[in-house]
Amino acid sequence: MTQAPTDTLAVELCGVDKSFYGVKANDNVDFKLAQGEVHALLGENGAGKSTLCSILAGLYRPDAGDVFFEGEEVTFKNPKEALASGVGMVYQHFRLVSNLTVAENFALGHPDTGVRLNQKEIHKAARELGEKYDLPIDPAARIWQLSVGEQQRVEILKLLYRNVKILILDEPTAVLTPQEGQALFKTMRQMAAEGRSVIFVSHKLDEVKQVSDRVTVLRNGKTVGGVATADADTRELARMMVGRDLVLPTRDTVEDFGDVMLSVKDLHVPGDRGLEAVRGMSFDIREGEVIGIAGVSGNGQRELAYGLVGLRKPSAGSVVLDGADITNNTVLEHIDAHQGYVPQSRLGMGLAPGLTTDENLALKAYRSPPYSKGRRLVASAFRDEGDRIVDEYDIRGVRPGLPIRLLSGGNLQKALVAREIELEPKVLILRSPTRGLDVGATEQVRNLILKERARGVATLLISEDLDELLALSDRLLVIFEGEIVGEMPAEEATAERLGLLMSGQVEEASA
Ligand SMILES: Nc1ncnc2c1ncn2[C@@H]1O[C@H](COP(=O)(O)OP(=O)(O)OP(=O)(O)O)[C@@H](O)[C@H]1O
Ligand SMILES: [Mg+2]
Repeated sequence: MTQAPTDTLAVELCGVDKSFYGVKANDNVDFKLAQGEVHALLGENGAGKSTLCSILAGLYRPDAGDVFFEGEEVTFKNPKEALASGVGMVYQHFRLVSNLTVAENFALGHPDTGVRLNQKEIHKAARELGEKYDLPIDPAARIWQLSVGEQQRVEILKLLYRNVKILILDEPTAVLTPQEGQALFKTMRQMAAEGRSVIFVSHKLDEVKQVSDRVTVLRNGKTVGGVATADADTRELARMMVGRDLVLPTRDTVEDFGDVMLSVKDLHVPGDRGLEAVRGMSFDIREGEVIGIAGVSGNGQRELAYGLVGLRKPSAGSVVLDGADITNNTVLEHIDAHQGYVPQSRLGMGLAPGLTTDENLALKAYRSPPYSKGRRLVASAFRDEGDRIVDEYDIRGVRPGLPIRLLSGGNLQKALVAREIELEPKVLILRSPTRGLDVGATEQVRNLILKERARGVATLLISEDLDELLALSDRLLVIFEGEIVGEMPAEEATAERLGLLMSGQVEEASA
């Protein structure tokens, strides 16, 4: 499917430096992008990928170094200038205005807005582009009504509407189902075939192998090297990224688990628009057991988690933790009952973006020692405990006073998981815990989860990533439209079997 890109350089970056608060995010980086290629950018969390992309897209100005665009030196002062030259980026965190329609978002910032553009034309163009690139969208829909995958389509189409020559996609597949990911790859190849260049940031090496022509690897802000994708296998790519061989941990088989630690009976949880999102789910999790919940996003995952951790009141059914009924308990009471929770959105729900790492690590524990003595908070405890946890869990990029939102995605996730584990949970509710993490960080987080399993923690792993589910779960449940439609021990689970159940197909009873 891949065809040889042309040799014409679309972009060249030479010796680019960029520091934030004394940390070199990009350190003398060289990067060459050919016209008509899909170029993967690989690197651990915090390696400097988003920074490099943001420089190219005009969001940041480099401290030093040169940027050449189609052979000419350029300095983009802002994203608008970059876009006018044909460089557009879809950010890791989207930038759409959520109460406007798709078409209104298309018009936003367009140079012809108010002059020649009218809504009818935009609707037509949006629909046509959607068809051409196999990214269907409804131009009249409001952004908040769309799934994350659909919002991403809007971001991409919006840039195609501006006829970009270079499209930068920063971890686009982290928010997509496997099927949506495959559709996006087709679109990427189509754009490359048209002579556009695509920069594709991803942590998933098999994706990089599948879709890219070339790979550039960054480590600690420096260029490690570039290779033609066909010349490197995933093992080598992983080694280039982390500088050592990696073995992703998988669970060992356990015959006997302990007593039932979490028991969920006929649980019903309302959805956002009045309809029931969880429609009578029952399951038990024993000590030391990991139960994986597989399903296409939007089939009740969010509401199941909310119902279990006290963020949404179940309309019927019961949740019993270690013998105590916690069905209608508050969030605080769930924490006190030693239930840990890693939510889907790290910065939205999990962490307080404006607080420091130390403060975030103490967020659930500050009401008791060592953080509090009587009614007084002990400042030194925040610092000492913070230092200890940062060290123990290898959270990188932390500096005194720095708001946690400035850490890279992988480090945010490590901080979140560390905080929950530090509460010595009896039950852990995890949503896609390694989403967006590099292979090294994935290894670390998986090891943390398996260590808790060995300690006897009962874990519920809700994920759309089948690799993650298959690697960690002892038993798998498949949910579809709010109900459990399949159950199997890990030994009998395959991606194909799960995928079929996830799409709502009923398995024939084995004779
Ligand atoms: N706006 C900012 N302010 C302060 N530090 C920043 C900022 N943006 C990035 N950094 C730091 O620069 C380094 C590189 O970050 P960058 O986001 O480019 O990494 P990344 O390779 O995209 O990581 P990830 O895979 O987690 O997305 C990190 O140490 C990060 O904490
Ligand atoms: Mg990034």
